[in-house]
Amino acid sequence: MRNSETPKTYRVKSFGCQMNVYDGERMAEMLNDKGLSPAAEGDDADLVVLNTCHIREKAAEKVYSDIGRLTKGDKNPMIAVAGCVAQAEGEEIMARAPAVGMVVGPQAYHRLPDMLDRAVKGERGTDTDMPANAKFDVLPQRRRVGPSAFLTVQEGCDKFCTYCVVPYTRGAEISRPFTDLVTEADRLVANGAREITLLGQNVNAWSGEDATGHEIGLDGLIRALAALPDLERIRYTTSHPNDMSEGLIAAHGEVDKLMPYLHLPVQSGSDRILKAMNRSHTTQSYLKLLDRFRKVRPDIALSGDFIVGFPGETGKDFEQTLKLVDAVGYAQAYSFKYSPRPGTPAASMDNAVPKEVMDERLQRLQAALNRDQLAFNQRSQGQNCDVLVERQGKLPGQWLGKSPWLQSVFFTGEAAIGDMVRVHLAQAGPNSLRGELKQTVAA
Ligand code: 5AD
Ligand code: SF4
Repeated sequence: MRNSETPKTYRVKSFGCQMNVYDGERMAEMLNDKGLSPAAEGDDADLVVLNTCHIREKAAEKVYSDIGRLTKGDKNPMIAVAGCVAQAEGEEIMARAPAVGMVVGPQAYHRLPDMLDRAVKGERGTDTDMPANAKFDVLPQRRRVGPSAFLTVQEGCDKFCTYCVVPYTRGAEISRPFTDLVTEADRLVANGAREITLLGQNVNAWSGEDATGHEIGLDGLIRALAALPDLERIRYTTSHPNDMSEGLIAAHGEVDKLMPYLHLPVQSGSDRILKAMNRSHTTQSYLKLLDRFRKVRPDIALSGDFIVGFPGETGKDFEQTLKLVDAVGYAQAYSFKYSPRPGTPAASMDNAVPKEVMDERLQRLQAALNRDQLAFNQRSQGQNCDVLVERQGKLPGQWLGKSPWLQSVFFTGEAAIGDMVRVHLAQAGPNSLRGELKQTVAA
């Protein structure tokens, strides 16, 4: 491990979910406060933070190969391993990879600056404690955010789906206090955010007390944030079907700033497999739930997560998943091959599905999902829609932003990052839409 000088530049490489992106930003803010600056594009950094994901296969192998790449030849950066692989396999990483100076879990990364001081003196350190909410009390205030910002409101999971490592790596469900969240949202908006996505592994399990001491759920938090005048859009992810409240559904019909988009993982269309996954919902209860959203917000875009090849999944089970996809008509969805995660109940189940079968099922599922995604985008074609401009496109005069339904929209015309503009959607593709600027909605 490099142990002589204090690093001057850093790079945080975040893998996996949006919460890791959020955590990565917060770590970067701490390193900025410590006097380090982000390494320029293409330059080697003195300190590299690998902010890892453990949700699917080969997570640890990927970390070791990244470390190998970072230390190739005479390169010798200081390396910190953070995120869920750090939480799950921290000790082993320390033992196997002498180049790593710090291992820090997702609930302990606020201690990174102290660990860095010690690492500079040559003391390697591991911190995978899980003190609920502790990091949020000491992280520096938010600064320099883009027009679309993340805000972690809830962390951890008590659901214990049999395939999933999250309850072990992120710990038990906790909600951040209401006033802290309003304060952080306020700061984000003051620093340029016009859209906030509320994050949580089970974001709709969020609960708290509002300023008057009333118990509220996620819908109450959303309504409170909608009162921030310069905030234009609110989103939230990821939800669990079993924590969906009447109030949250109603909010979709009542709160204009709440975007018409719902990411609601289902995983499988077979009740037998859902039971083996310990999902505690059925295909029917899931579909009924979606109907309730559609009733209050007919244009809502639906998104989901799917796993194919869970142990024991038969051809018939898989056909039921395809049937569910047909019934829902997703605007967008994520699908994965089942990957046994060490320490989870499903990892020791019999009847593993052969790799070729999984490959074939994933291909068929993705073909169906892509078909529906294109159809959804095609329905927007010819319409005008509001787009929040997030960045410049690759072509001259081109911009990229998001529609209310989270579609990527490329357009040409006079605009700036952070503008809310009206765009005529001329052409729909599977992954994005193209159009021309009609007018700026608000500066
Ligand atoms: N194998 C494959 N996919 C998984 N996911 C979670 N655990 C696994 C696993 N062991 C998927 C689920 C979840 C998403 C975040 O990742 O679909 O919703
Ligand atoms: Fe994992 Fe299930 Fe919790 Fe989602 S609800 S994080 S899939 S255990």
